Amino acid sequence: MAKYTRREFGRTILAGAAASTLGRLFAQDDCSPPDGTPVDFVIPKLQNIQRKAIAELTPNEIARLRLAYVRLRALTDSDPTDPRGWMQQANVHCWQCGGSGSDIHGSWTFFPWHRGYLYFHERILCKLLNDNTFRLPYWSWDDKNYRNLPAIYRPATVGATANSLYDANRSSGAVAGAPMPSSIFPALRNPMNAGNFASFGGSAESGGALEFGPHGAIHMWTGGPEDPYPDMGNLSLAARDPIFYAHHCNIDRLWAEWNRRNPVAHANPTDAEFLTRSFPFFDENKNLVNIRVQDVLNTAPLGFSYRPGAKLSKSNLPKWTQLKYDSTTQSITLPDNVRAALTAPSVIARQRSLVLKNVKLPTASGLYNVFVGDPPATGADQATATNYVGYIGIIVGQHHHDHNCSLILDATNEFLQRAGAGGALLTFAPAGTTNGGKLDFSSAYLTEE
Ligand code: C2O
Repeated sequence: MAKYTRREFGRTILAGAAASTLGRLFAQDDCSPPDGTPVDFVIPKLQNIQRKAIAELTPNEIARLRLAYVRLRALTDSDPTDPRGWMQQANVHCWQCGGSGSDIHGSWTFFPWHRGYLYFHERILCKLLNDNTFRLPYWSWDDKNYRNLPAIYRPATVGATANSLYDANRSSGAVAGAPMPSSIFPALRNPMNAGNFASFGGSAESGGALEFGPHGAIHMWTGGPEDPYPDMGNLSLAARDPIFYAHHCNIDRLWAEWNRRNPVAHANPTDAEFLTRSFPFFDENKNLVNIRVQDVLNTAPLGFSYRPGAKLSKSNLPKWTQLKYDSTTQSITLPDNVRAALTAPSVIARQRSLVLKNVKLPTASGLYNVFVGDPPATGADQATATNYVGYIGIIVGQHHHDHNCSLILDATNEFLQRAGAGGALLTFAPAGTTNGGKLDFSSAYLTEE
C-alpha cells in the first residue's frame, strides 16, 4: 500500500464527507495524525469482558481508570509526537470531523468509526496499564438516575493530585452535577424506537436519530458556556474531555442494544460500500492500521460486550389516545391535534396500533371491510374502492358466546396519513351478506410505542 503523507491522506478519503456544523468551527486547526503507512489490521484474540457503567465501578476500578488517564496524559508530556498520547488521541477525533480527514459524522460511518476509535483507545490504555482486562466504562445517561456528569469526573483534584478525569471546559450544570434537562429525552423522539438502520444510524449521506438526538444534545450540555461550547460541545475539541470516551461508550452500547432487540429489522446495512469502508488508527504499539467497518459490527471479537438492556427503551407502556367513535355510522374520527401530529413529516417510524375495545362478537361469522374515510355507496364493489384498507374476519362457533374482546389493527404511518383532513378515520361495513349484524364495539384508541 502506498505511503500516505498528511495531505494525501486527507485528500484520498475526503470524498463523501458529510456536513457537520460543529466540526467546521476549528477546521483551521491542524490536527492531522503523524504520517504513516497503514497496514490492514489483524484483530488479535482478546478475552471478551463486559464493559461496565461508571456507576458500577468498584473503588479499585475507579483508581485504575484514573491511573490509565494519568499515564495517557503523561505520554503527551514526555513525547508529544507519540501517536498514542492524550492530545494525539484527541486530535484523531478532531481530524475526522472538520479537520483535514474525512468527516465520519452525519452518516452511517458514525457508529462504526467511533467503535473503532474507542477500541484502539481501550487497547492503548490496556498497554499503559499493562493490564489486558481493562475496559472502558460507559456513562449510562439512558437511565434517568445518571443524567448528571458522573461524580468521579467532576473534581479538579483527588486528594493532593490532579484528577485525570477532570476537564476545565465544562458547563456550570455539568460542573455542579445538575441533571440534564428532560427535553433531551422527549418521549416521542426516542431513537431506540427507530424501525430501521437508516432512521437509527443514518445512511451514506444522512445521520441517524441517536447521533442527532441525545448524542449531540449531551455534547452541547456538557460543553462550556462560551460559543463554541468547548470542549464537549465542539467536535474538534470534544475528545479533550475524558467524559467524551464514556459518553461514546454509551452511544456504542445503545447501538449494540438496538441491534440486539430485533436482529431482523434492526440489522446493520449490508451494502459493500458500508462494509468495506476502512479507517486508519494507531494501535497500542504505534502501528498505523486500517480497520474495516465489517470488522467492528460485532463487539465480542474486539474483546468487549455489554449486558443486554438499556433504560432508554421502547416505553413499556404504549401511549393511548382515545378516538371519537360514532356507533351509528360506525366511524372513528381522529381528534384534530392527533391528526396534525400524525401527518407531520416524521423521521422516526413508530409502532402504532388501532385498538377497538369491547368488540361484541356478532351472532354469525362475518367479514367487515375497513375503509379510510367513508365507505363506498351501497351496492358498489367495496374491495376495489380506493380507500379500502382491509377487512376483519370474525368466526364464531355453534354456540354463541356473548363475550367481548379487543381487536388490534396495525396502524402504520402510511395508513394514518391516508386519512385526509377532517372526516372519518375509519369506517367498517359488513361485506356482502353478513347476517351477524354490524360491528359493535365500545371505544377506539390509537396506541403508540
Ligand atoms: Cu465524534 Cu460525539 O462525536
